[in-house]
Amino acid sequence: MNHGWPDEYTLRAALTLAVRAPSVHNTQPWRFRISDHDIHLYLDSTRAHQSSGIDQRDAVLSCGAALHHLRIALAAAGWSAVVHRLPHPADPNHLASIELVPHRPTMLEHALNSMILRRQTDRRPFSSAPIPPGYLGLVSERAATLGASIRQAVDTTRERLVEVLRAAPDPGAGYRLDLAEWSGRPVTRDGAPARSVPLYSHPGGVPGMVGAPRQAGPDFAELLVLGTTTDDRLAQLCAGEALSAVLLTATNVGLATCVLTEPLEIPELRQRIRVGVLDERAYPQAVIRIGWASADVAALPVASRRPLADVLDPFEAAAC
Ligand SMILES: Cc1cc2nc3c(=O)[nH]c(=O)nc-3n(C[C@H](O)[C@H](O)[C@H](O)COP(=O)(O)O)c2cc1C
Repeated sequence: MNHGWPDEYTLRAALTLAVRAPSVHNTQPWRFRISDHDIHLYLDSTRAHQSSGIDQRDAVLSCGAALHHLRIALAAAGWSAVVHRLPHPADPNHLASIELVPHRPTMLEHALNSMILRRQTDRRPFSSAPIPPGYLGLVSERAATLGASIRQAVDTTRERLVEVLRAAPDPGAGYRLDLAEWSGRPVTRDGAPARSVPLYSHPGGVPGMVGAPRQAGPDFAELLVLGTTTDDRLAQLCAGEALSAVLLTATNVGLATCVLTEPLEIPELRQRIRVGVLDERAYPQAVIRIGWASADVAALPVASRRPLADVLDPFEAAAC
């Protein structure tokens, strides 16, 4: 038995959980490579969504979420990840190399690990039951440990945020086109399942992005803005890790979540959120709807993922 490196089963199991991470439009823009003593994570720029902008921010965030999922899955399996982020400046798509050391899993790691298969993007309206402040404190704390901040948009800040979201162009234009391409199909290996996709904005919901099935009622989601103090690729990668921690933590206390980045892809709107919601102290990386799923709603369909063989380098797949 090799005490310095996990066996193939453990690696495959951890990677299978890693690819359950959320990604923009379920594009799954990641690639993994396993060498003798490291796991490498790459941004697959061929999968990066065209609406992610030149800096591919959303795709890097998605890879950050996969990196955090991987770290949690490995930790729960008894391996602590020592992560070197952007190890080769000449290759910005090489997002991380990960060394592993034996580790005794904590209760928290076990808890978050068991949330990976339970977390889902929920675009439906949330119920009016309040969220205990301690829960929001907890998600902020988890984001902070990974280098990101959470700002809950309340009162006038919320009004300002909603106003900005309302200023976003009708998602019908770009978003519905994208949905047709990536998500309009029934459950597929990429794209979102058709039933969990917004059909159109609900008047009571967050405008511009989060629609609801025609029969759904008003939306009482709280709005959180995840921010970072810098806005380079490293900050975006860390923001993705923090995003994953927030979503898994929320799932663990029973809260439903939905990530929104579509409005942030418009520089002017992103700047308005930076100024009007984050007081210019942080760069907004994602808006997160969070709340309680209504009790009477049916289970969400699960968004599929590409098989591991599609995202793990074939040569290394044989080696692991
Ligand atoms: C960086 C990022 C940006 C996202 N942006 C949006 C968005 O603007 N609107 C939306 O409805 N979902 C958004 N999502 C959620 C994805 O569509 C979702 O994760 C994907 O379809 C997989 O589904 P799942 O989260 O249920 O596993 C985003 C996810 C990530 C990680």
